[in-house]
Amino acid sequence: MSDLVIAIDGPAGSGKSTVARAVAHALGWSFLDTGAMYRAVTCEALARGVDVADEAAMATVAAHVTLTTLPRVTVDGRDVEDEIRTEPVNLAVSIVAANPLVRQSMVTRQREIAAAQPVGTVVEGRDITTVVFPEATLKVFLTASLDERAARRGEEGVDSVARRDRADSTREASPLRRADDALVLDTTGRNVKDVVEEIVQCLKTRQSN
Ligand code: DC
Repeated sequence: MSDLVIAIDGPAGSGKSTVARAVAHALGWSFLDTGAMYRAVTCEALARGVDVADEAAMATVAAHVTLTTLPRVTVDGRDVEDEIRTEPVNLAVSIVAANPLVRQSMVTRQREIAAAQPVGTVVEGRDITTVVFPEATLKVFLTASLDERAARRGEEGVDSVARRDRADSTREASPLRRADDALVLDTTGRNVKDVVEEIVQCLKTRQSN
């Protein structure tokens, strides 16, 4: 059990998943992709024909599903690793993520998952540095230009990425924002190895102070 957490936030395509996964690997820590959790709940709602805008119905789905993110994303035992990145889910997930009841249940799960890890956890999302782990060992905010972020998201395209950014940053419930004490890294044109080294170095400096 460990309370060591590196919290990483940033908009879609800023490199969070790739960087967070690589930092976890470099340190021998666990990795938690919280966006995959919101996406998996969205998949389940779409599969059950639940209206994703129905806050109470979505809260029930979120509260009762069994979720795993590693080694594969599953919901109630169904593998949704590929389905979570499809267009219907891209379109619906911002609505689900704006539901405060869904967020409450995801945040509780995220804290439980991190607390159960043997060494430490690298957790990435939108509200990790501000709401889920405001006392994290290290907080990082990743950004990149919209063009580069859209290019990294491939088929999703600039418009969809920009639309999701707007929805995630302007919603009432835990909008994406920079924590005042987060290390801000612009990943535009930088390689993953470089960014990972900077984060690991920063962690070591924080831990030795
Ligand atoms: O990082 P991603 O694109 O897989 O995230 C999917 C959606 O979930 C995105 O619209 C933002 C939202 N999200 C969130 O609101 N809070 C998180 N901690 C993680 C993701």
